[in-house]
Amino acid sequence: MELRDSFDRKIDYIRLSVTEMCNLRCIYCVPGGREKTSRCSLPEKMPEFGKMLSFLHVARKYGLKKVRITGGEPLLRKDIVHLVREIKAIGIEDLSLTTNGQLLPFFAAGLKKAGLDRVNISLDSLDARRYMEITRGGSLPRALRAVRVAKEVFWPAPVKINMVPIKGINGSEIPGFARLTLENSFHVRFIELMPVGGSSFFFEGLRLTAQEAKEAIKASMGGGQKLLPLGRSGSSDNYMFPGAKGVVGFISPISGHFCDSCNRLRITAAGKIRPCLFSSREEDLSKASTEEEMEQLLLSSVLSKEKGSLLEKKVRFDSMQQVGG
Ligand code: 5AD
Ligand code: SF4
Repeated sequence: MELRDSFDRKIDYIRLSVTEMCNLRCIYCVPGGREKTSRCSLPEKMPEFGKMLSFLHVARKYGLKKVRITGGEPLLRKDIVHLVREIKAIGIEDLSLTTNGQLLPFFAAGLKKAGLDRVNISLDSLDARRYMEITRGGSLPRALRAVRVAKEVFWPAPVKINMVPIKGINGSEIPGFARLTLENSFHVRFIELMPVGGSSFFFEGLRLTAQEAKEAIKASMGGGQKLLPLGRSGSSDNYMFPGAKGVVGFISPISGHFCDSCNRLRITAAGKIRPCLFSSREEDLSKASTEEEMEQLLLSSVLSKEKGSLLEKKVRFDSMQQVGG
């Protein structure tokens, strides 16, 4: 059985936010934009994890293949290894987790053993001071250690590195990030800055589009090296340098045709099913108890998926801490 939405998109991917808490306060993520916010003002609302698992079970019957665990910072959940084991046991082919890496070296081996297939690490600067400024307190050496450990532990799955380029802040680092793929099997993905959480003037003026990122890479190569197109994989438009070990990807939720290939549902940390990151609709998982009710919830969420471009209508801009990146 498979799930198709009203626009014939196959839905086989769920992003599951397991906590709203985070040990960092990235300038583009935490509500309040660049202003200082308290370290963690959001209380932990523990959704009933049993219900999330039952929902995933039902979705598995309808062809769910891929689950990504997000947050907040998922590694702040003390039971994260247990959660991973339970989710993998459902029979999810591709189970991944997005982390800022600060705690990953402590958990990587346990997570792998529990069945986690791979990780995405958020890394927005290779300059320690700038990294600290963007994350408001994060340690670059710790993030880099996470990348090294993940490369080893999850081998041969490549480590994906998420980089959000911001004009005048880390934009100049785009070529350097792309070049990491020459010698490493990383997938470096440039993600367009999205207006979530903070004030939109902050986002609008400072966004670097996928096209601008590509041009910055080309300009830095002086016409010598080429970026070879590899095609799309999920939401990422992928390229590689000839002979490189890794892949350079561009994710363009703002400028691209991101929604056309949407294959996902989201579950927020508060246990709400969201058809889209920018949707104002949501269904409450806590209201479903029986398998039939879970099934109803799944089908109605999939069918309520809109065609897209919700972003332009600025429907709902929660922090990524609530809905997961
Ligand atoms: N725009 C783009 N990406 C974002 N992320 C968080 N907030 C934003 C935003 N406003 C990304 C992080 C991380 C993932 C969880 O989501 O960089 O890689
Ligand atoms: Fe935390 Fe990720 Fe948001 Fe940064 S982007 S504050 S690491 S949830």
